[in-house]
Amino acid sequence: MSTAMSAATVEVDPRALRDVCGQFLTGVTVITSTDGEYPFGMTANSFTSVSLDPPMVLFCPHKDAKIRELIDRSGCFAVNVLAEEQAELCRRFSHRVTVCFGDIPTRIGVSGAPVLTDSLAYLDCRVVREIAAGDHTVVLGEVLDVGRPRPDGRPLAFHSGKYVSLA
Ligand SMILES: Cc1cc2nc3c(=O)[nH]c(=O)nc-3n(C[C@H](O)[C@H](O)[C@H](O)COP(=O)(O)O)c2cc1C
Repeated sequence: MSTAMSAATVEVDPRALRDVCGQFLTGVTVITSTDGEYPFGMTANSFTSVSLDPPMVLFCPHKDAKIRELIDRSGCFAVNVLAEEQAELCRRFSHRVTVCFGDIPTRIGVSGAPVLTDSLAYLDCRVVREIAAGDHTVVLGEVLDVGRPRPDGRPLAFHSGKYVSLA
């Protein structure tokens, strides 16, 4: 029997999986896109860089997430990396269907996606591929523009379901 076949027979408790994955320290991003009229954002820590040449990144929204539907239609998204002081933005964009940006300053990036002007860093992307993966989707984007609005800022960090300070 191959190793792959034996591995497939093991049942992993979803709570244990979530708990173990939560031991992996991450930053926090707000992924932004648009319905053509209004900006929309979703908190995500499934972001990672993929390729330097061509420049590509990915993140994984739930298959039913509103942002996935908008990205399908608009073909663009921005990854906004949050700074230490921006835990409130993380909370605001982790509620279902956050359409109200209110006083959060944004501008339209070269991809057409709204970009938060006050983040630690951003990557403005064009969608190149979406891959169904269980209850999530892997969204691959080509990076069209990058920037660091707060060059001296520190990142918001997330571990075991809590914000942690790197200071
Ligand atoms: C720190 C943190 C990271 C998250 N990362 C992801 C993620 O990578 N993918 C995802 O689908 N949801 C993630 N979520 C949950 C979504 O933010 C939340 O379910 C979403 O905003 C719900 O919106 P919707 O159901 O209206 O689309 C994360 C939440 C938090 C607090």
